[in-house]
Amino acid sequence: MKPVIMLTGRNGQVGAELLRLLPQLGEVVAFGHDQLDLSNPSDICRRVREVRPQLIVNAAAYTAVDQAETDETTAQAVNAQAPGLLAEEAKKIGAVLVHYSTDYVFDGAKKLPYDEADSANPINVYGKTKFAGEQAIRSSGVSHLIFRTSWVYATRGRNFLLTILRLATEREELRIVSDQIGAPTCASDVAAATIKVLTNLWERNDCGFVFSKVSGTYHMSAAGQTTWYDFAETILEKAGATSHRLEWLAGAIKGRPLVAQRVISISTEEFGSPTPRPAYSILSNSRLFQKFGVSLPDWHTQLQRCFVAESIAANLLAH
Ligand SMILES: NC(=O)c1ccc[n+]([C@@H]2O[C@H](COP(=O)([O-])OP(=O)(O)OC[C@H]3O[C@@H](n4cnc5c(N)ncnc54)[C@H](OP(=O)(O)O)[C@@H]3O)[C@@H](O)[C@H]2O)c1
Repeated sequence: MKPVIMLTGRNGQVGAELLRLLPQLGEVVAFGHDQLDLSNPSDICRRVREVRPQLIVNAAAYTAVDQAETDETTAQAVNAQAPGLLAEEAKKIGAVLVHYSTDYVFDGAKKLPYDEADSANPINVYGKTKFAGEQAIRSSGVSHLIFRTSWVYATRGRNFLLTILRLATEREELRIVSDQIGAPTCASDVAAATIKVLTNLWERNDCGFVFSKVSGTYHMSAAGQTTWYDFAETILEKAGATSHRLEWLAGAIKGRPLVAQRVISISTEEFGSPTPRPAYSILSNSRLFQKFGVSLPDWHTQLQRCFVAESIAANLLAH
């Protein structure tokens, strides 16, 4: 019998991609923010008890990093308390939990890829609340998989890719930070890797998502590393070389021409954000590969595929 899977955050970047892929594995009951408000504990309990899933996938989160600095209460409710409650509810009904976390649990002081054994030391409110969410899940005792990813983007939603494309229609010069190092990860690659892990577990056990031998935290980000500055330059290079018939690209730039001529490298200090961000947040994905044989492509390949896949889809629609 097909398992029942409860998905939260169905309209988010990762959630929307999961919504496309999860039906391969079971019957999906998916909630958006308007149907399940994770800042409301009674909503969480009611929904889990109604659906009685075998697997809960929590793709919802409070991801507005700057806003979290002044709205800690909501960020804490959604990123810390809600995952803890989902975990407790899952445990009560014998379900397992998949949850996503972030490279921002680290302080960025290390200069080599962070692995799962490295101590977290978040330096902003978003990172602190996400780490508290991880801890709440661990201490609930539920069987779980926490996937930490980084610098997530997609061809929809709020993200760096779409911001750069919009700015490139408005300004001749873009000033972008070049002293933060990370790995931009496409939401569709996070969703695809999650499905591979779950398929692998399902096949291994044949009768359900048994997480007991693999329960824990895994890094799940694009391979390679870059800076926001280099990422912006690469986006503009690819956008310039791509047909403007691309539906999402045309939407992102609202049909306006790209006018950006230059990308100027600036420091975090010059940018002047009041929110601290880790200067280095590369994650080592070896554990994910060792346990599940799953790896994500290099960030460059992911970005290229993002343009090409959408390009193919647009061309298919056009013919
Ligand atoms: N985005 C990144 O750069 C990044 C980096 C590292 C890790 N992650 C992690 O990856 C996971 C997926 O992130 P994402 O990029 O897909 O985020 P996203 O695009 O911002 O999606 C998050 C979803 O959560 C929903 N949400 C927010 N508050 C909620 C609430 N109170 N109740 C129910 N739903 C609520 C949002 O709905 P509304 O928009 O309607 O509020 C949105 O649909 C998250 O755990 C995130 O922390 C993200």
